[in-house]
Amino acid sequence: MITLAIPKGRIFHDVLPLLEAAGVELFESPDLSRKLIIETKNPDLRLLIVRTSDVPTYVRFGAADMGVVGSDVLFETATDGLYQPVDLNTGVCRLSLAIPKEVDYYSLIKRGVKLRVATKYPKQALEYFALKGIQVDIIKLYGSMELSPLVGLSDVIVDLVSSGQTLKANGLVEIEVIKDITSRLIVNKASFKMKNDILGKFITALSSARKG
Ligand code: PRP
Repeated sequence: MITLAIPKGRIFHDVLPLLEAAGVELFESPDLSRKLIIETKNPDLRLLIVRTSDVPTYVRFGAADMGVVGSDVLFETATDGLYQPVDLNTGVCRLSLAIPKEVDYYSLIKRGVKLRVATKYPKQALEYFALKGIQVDIIKLYGSMELSPLVGLSDVIVDLVSSGQTLKANGLVEIEVIKDITSRLIVNKASFKMKNDILGKFITALSSARKG
């Protein structure tokens, strides 16, 4: 038996066609069911439905053999004990710096203002501003980042952008792309050794199904 930890929502919908192309057929959709363990028609494979940010934890501790997770989350978490054999090239988006459109970002920087940065991604944000030599205070948020500069909680945000609609709807503009983000397959190193045959076949099937 092998298990794959995967979040519901966008990541799941983007990865489902790849799973299907790799021969995985689900007995039920996680969107319609409240079950957190989803059986597949392959008696050797189960899906575990977990929060995106929890996927690396399930896989590191061996509670799942494999997981699908965005590289945004992977960069923020410990990845010891994990292999990252396949960039699935799905869930494509970017981690960007954005600011209210009426604020002149470059003049703030020139004046040496210490920026208040709202983000779910403190490690990547700190790394980015440190490389630029810009002083920041990080304000960790868990969602609705675009709201924070509108109500004075932060000056800028570092957040995921996909279509750009959320930024636009809230009067923010993208200043710079910090990182391109995709979904990755991660595999527990011990599982990979112990279940090499079955995991190897699954990884190969998924790699052949991925685009590009
Ligand atoms: C993500 C991200 C942005 C939005 C970007 O939020 O944090 O808010 O999607 O997508 P867009 O560019 O296509 O508008 P999500 O919907 O995952 O919710 P969250 O605010 O809880 O993170």
